[in-house]
Amino acid sequence: MLVFQKLRYKNFLSSGDSFTEIDFLANNTNLIIGSNGSGKSTILDALTFVFFNKPFRKINKPQLVNSVTEKNCLVEIEFNNNNRQYLVRRGIKPNVFDIEVDGKLLEKRGDDRDNQVTLEENILKVNYKSFTQIVILGSSTFVPFMQLSAAHRREVIEDLLDIRVFSSMSSIVKDRVRTVRDQLKILELKKSSLKEKGQMQAKFIDDITKSGEANINKKNESVKRHLLDQQQLQEANIDVLGKIDHLNAELEELKGAGDKLRELGGLKGKIQQKITTLSKNHKFFNDNKTCPTCTQDIDENLRQTKLTELGVDAKKLKGGYQELEAAIEKEENRESNFNDISAEVLELNKKLASSNSDISNINKTITNLHSEISTIRESIDNQAESKENLNSIIKNLKSSVDEISNLKVEMEKHQFVNELLKDGGVKTSIIKKYIPLINKHVNKYLQMMEFYINFNLDEEFNETVVSPIHERFSYASFSEGEKMRIDLSLLFTWREVARVRNSINTNLLIMDEVFDSSLDGFGTEEFLKIIRYVVKDANIFIISHKTELYERFDSVLKFEKERGFSKLNKK
Ligand SMILES: Nc1ncnc2c1ncn2[C@@H]1O[C@H](COP(=O)(O)OP(=O)(O)OP(=O)(O)O)[C@@H](O)[C@H]1O
Ligand SMILES: [Mg+2]
Repeated sequence: MLVFQKLRYKNFLSSGDSFTEIDFLANNTNLIIGSNGSGKSTILDALTFVFFNKPFRKINKPQLVNSVTEKNCLVEIEFNNNNRQYLVRRGIKPNVFDIEVDGKLLEKRGDDRDNQVTLEENILKVNYKSFTQIVILGSSTFVPFMQLSAAHRREVIEDLLDIRVFSSMSSIVKDRVRTVRDQLKILELKKSSLKEKGQMQAKFIDDITKSGEANINKKNESVKRHLLDQQQLQEANIDVLGKIDHLNAELEELKGAGDKLRELGGLKGKIQQKITTLSKNHKFFNDNKTCPTCTQDIDENLRQTKLTELGVDAKKLKGGYQELEAAIEKEENRESNFNDISAEVLELNKKLASSNSDISNINKTITNLHSEISTIRESIDNQAESKENLNSIIKNLKSSVDEISNLKVEMEKHQFVNELLKDGGVKTSIIKKYIPLINKHVNKYLQMMEFYINFNLDEEFNETVVSPIHERFSYASFSEGEKMRIDLSLLFTWREVARVRNSINTNLLIMDEVFDSSLDGFGTEEFLKIIRYVVKDANIFIISHKTELYERFDSVLKFEKERGFSKLNKK
């Protein structure tokens, strides 16, 4: 609970160089009186100045310094919040802004603005607007709740119920939703571009693989064809070898014909010599009856015998010669055969050699094809760079997809929270929860003032009023005094709600001529009644010109001007 203890100020507006001090805790009900300009409302300015660095009324900061003393304008407040003792000191000429916590000066980290934020958000937990709606009420600035616009009513209630935070959260969440949506758009674009890239890369790899495989198939076909050719050549070679074997066997048979011919030739020569000799002898005996050398006659018998013998020999030689001729012809045939076959074998061997060279060429070609095939296979299997590229694309794509799904989950959460934070969401359900409590309190206070109407606010903070006389009344229908009762009821209701919500739970209530104009004799009594009720644990300060109130308060504080300076005296 925020317990205000003491306020003191000097050289502030009409106060002089000695402190004017107000002890908030001394009495529960306090009446502050004094003639016009005596310095009563100054208390409100001092309070908002010391806490929020601006006076309650619209006065420039330099104008807050007393115009006579012109320096050392200083306001101090002592208060306790949740068992911590605080003192805040603020001054002009010189500028002062100190916060003491349990007697220790709070260190100033940045400039005074940081400490101001600390004071409002961490120490007081009340902002200027709520402070001037719940703690101090001035006649000039206090606008009764029912006279606020719908938007302002909502603002006050949200403040009161401590749910304004949902509005700021809502705008943060909306921002986040926008950011996430933008991020998602970018990621979706990235994803589709990666997908395209990946498909291209995969197609590239596939194309290379397919064309490589086709090439390998072609080369394998070529290998097959070459093997077939090779086989045919080998088979033909076997044939040729068979033929050569056969011909060699024939040659074996025909071997020696030359030698024999030479031998027969020699024989033929000898026979021809013999025939020549024989023919010479035959011619001699035939032609000569007398020896040409010795001229003796040759015996006719002998000559005839010689001619016959020579004829027989000639016949014999002729037979032998014919035989020899036949034998020579035969051998000549054999020799020619031998030569023919030899030529054929030579030819066949040539053919074999060429075929063998073809076979070895084919072997080379096949080896080359195999090595080409393995090179292609290697290049298919080993498209390292492309595959690495594809892998990194896939990896990127995967991480984009993950990121997208994470963002979508986040988006869903945000949208859910956004839904909750919308005016119709959590806030409304909290407000809804409090509306019956609010209505209950308002009507309780109204009854305490013996104003028997049934006043109800709805979630939009529009009122319906049912009175014994009228079925449907609105706030505007009532007289000023009646309106005041409703305003008071609402005011105290806000304090009750604030206490329940623990948003602004304070002992202090200062009202500066707020209801003076609408307080008639009757209203005053009710006003006092309700104040008494609230007073149980509060310190109330009523600034009023109503003389009839004097006797009804625990204490009366009187402001007076002495030698141009405001002074506070107790009565
Ligand atoms: N800088 C200043 N130096 C000295 N006096 C000032 C300064 N600024 C305002 N004043 C005077 O201080 C007084 C203000 O007092 P305040 O408004 O507190 O009077 P009040 O008691 O509330 O009077 P009322 O009953 O008319 O509301 C006025 O007389 C005003 O002229
Ligand atoms: Mg005043």
